[in-house]
Amino acid sequence: MNKKIFPLDKFELENVVKEYETPFHIYFKDIILEQSNKLNDAFSWCSPGFRNYFAVKATPNPHILNILYENGHGMDCSSMTELKIMNNMGISGLDIIYTSNNTPDEEFIEAINMGAILNIDDASHIDRLKVLDIIPEVVCFRFLPEDDKNNENIVIGSPTESKFGVRENDLISCYKELKDMGVKRFGLHTMQASNERSEKFFIKTSEEMFKLAKKISFTLDINIEFINLGGGLGINQHPDDEEINIKYIGDEIKKIYTKYFFVDHVDILPKLYMENGRYITGPAGYLITKARHICEKHKTYIGVDACMTDFMRPALYKDYHHISSFNDGQKSLTYDVVGSLCENNDKFAIGRKLPTTERGDLLIIHDTGAHGHAMGFNYNGKLKSSEILYNKKNDHEEIRRRETTSDLFTTIKIKKGVWNAK
Ligand SMILES: Cc1ncc(COP(=O)(O)O)c(C=O)c1O
Repeated sequence: MNKKIFPLDKFELENVVKEYETPFHIYFKDIILEQSNKLNDAFSWCSPGFRNYFAVKATPNPHILNILYENGHGMDCSSMTELKIMNNMGISGLDIIYTSNNTPDEEFIEAINMGAILNIDDASHIDRLKVLDIIPEVVCFRFLPEDDKNNENIVIGSPTESKFGVRENDLISCYKELKDMGVKRFGLHTMQASNERSEKFFIKTSEEMFKLAKKISFTLDINIEFINLGGGLGINQHPDDEEINIKYIGDEIKKIYTKYFFVDHVDILPKLYMENGRYITGPAGYLITKARHICEKHKTYIGVDACMTDFMRPALYKDYHHISSFNDGQKSLTYDVVGSLCENNDKFAIGRKLPTTERGDLLIIHDTGAHGHAMGFNYNGKLKSSEILYNKKNDHEEIRRRETTSDLFTTIKIKKGVWNAK
């Protein structure tokens, strides 16, 4: 059992709220670094090198990315915008893995011009590279495993339903084609899970990957310079969840790595990469919202000033996210905690026991630091909330302002009599 803790006391949070209106996401730098160090320590045995390429999509705020980059992370990008964020931050070359997924030509071109490692999702992409006359410096393919009912992950689902990756039988010919095109440096990639808390899952996946890397390497006489085990390390969102034992995962993977790569002669021992997002920033972020209306219907509702446009995981995946307040000690009641979107699934919690809550009380939604603000949207004309970075006691800053209606209107074409923009 883990106790879900919010790092600030009531007085400290109220001071932050005075400065920035609710709702907002607040990220704690020390938690980001703690998570990052736990992951790096677990794989510090890997002498050729271990690196997490942070999944930019999880928390695409340059201020957060900069903390991670300075802490040794590479960056995993999978869209033009994410590449442009890198450009603006001055990050390029092998510090970036570009993970393609139904990729337009211009993104291949941009990624290659930036010198990124190209992670190819499908055999058909090779033809596009040929048409575009692109020979990437370093390439990996995303491996799609065969059906495995025991490995179905709640978000990623069954491999047979996956739009991502290359099946094992096609991998050899893909690598061969790239080799024939003149590519000299290769890696191997997979991404099979999201918010997965089974240690066995990652250990099993790494064995599968090591075996496959050797097969490709020996069949084609190429070195697999790195093996990217993907992201998806889970976090303990529910108070009953045990924290995933990252040290155990690292130690077990070490044993398998040793078995596969130290027994035979391998020209270059592969580096290990991962591309976790949630494990690093998820527990570092909280959505701060205020109770607006307490409504009695068939059930009792707390209507808060955030809605699923600020954080959609509970509504989208029925994902449990802990909610706390400073009302501990009050009689506990059962509430649905809901937003203001015209959608009945706009709920942060259903049938949740919480201390009696009144208008104006602050509620803290936990573990929103990854795939949180980033998944926000503007349905109903809702405006995305601001993001605050808490560097240390008495030192916090707004790292993204709240959207305004004018932001939303900027894309509308001005036409006299239809839209008189102000
Ligand atoms: C290709 C890829 N890599 C990494 C990630 C990061 O996953 P997580 O934040 O669960 O670690 C994702 C998540 O969507 C992904 O699609």
